[in-house]
Amino acid sequence: MRRGLFITLEGGEGAGKSSQIELLRKKLTDEGHDVVITREPGGTPGAEIIRHVLLSGAAEKLGSEAEAMLFSAARSDHVEEVIRPALEKGKTVLCDRFIDSTRVYQGGEGKVDMDYLYQLEELVCENVWPDMTLILDIDPEIGMKRANSRRTGKQKPDRFEKQQMDDHIRRREAFLEIARREPERCVIIDAKGTQKQVAGRIWRALNPLVGKRGRGRK
Ligand code: TYD
Repeated sequence: MRRGLFITLEGGEGAGKSSQIELLRKKLTDEGHDVVITREPGGTPGAEIIRHVLLSGAAEKLGSEAEAMLFSAARSDHVEEVIRPALEKGKTVLCDRFIDSTRVYQGGEGKVDMDYLYQLEELVCENVWPDMTLILDIDPEIGMKRANSRRTGKQKPDRFEKQQMDDHIRRREAFLEIARREPERCVIIDAKGTQKQVAGRIWRALNPLVGKRGRGRK
């Protein structure tokens, strides 16, 4: 059986990844793909526990290197338990955040050596690398407004949302830089406009990859 497609979505806060992943799932299912949606950090019971530790800020005092290790530990479980098995069954996996989030959030502040992160990636991913990464690009001012407005009453911003605007601007640049360095894997998607407009841009970007595989992959 042919290995399935592995597509990751990346971007800053409020870029609209969750709604777009859902729209993409529908579209790909209509095209005959057997789709698995998942997210990081998380995606398995063990990784969801690590997610809680990370997003609550409980691991913050351990430093960015330890946080990167925890994100990688969660990823390792996720790859082994969910992503690899699904790809081996020929399924299309859509993952909300993956290695690029670690590069940008943990590596981008210069607190963690990039080579250290690349080594963690190699250990965790082995031969499971995204076929395509969609980087949803949004002005952080707009993104943070969206992220704040979708939070309900008592919900507080998580460990990474509550950082300063400067951090969000720097992260945007870091994602764009990854796309410039790896144009064969990454596509920048303008995340301004309506959900429908953004979904159209995503579908056009995916066309060469999805079109190549043809319909009726179930
Ligand atoms: P989440 O609630 O999933 O929000 P969203 O993806 O919509 O922003 O939050 C995940 C947070 O974890 C997000 O702020 C980015 C951060 N993160 C890292 O710092 N490193 C990582 O490797 C990953 C996967 C996420």
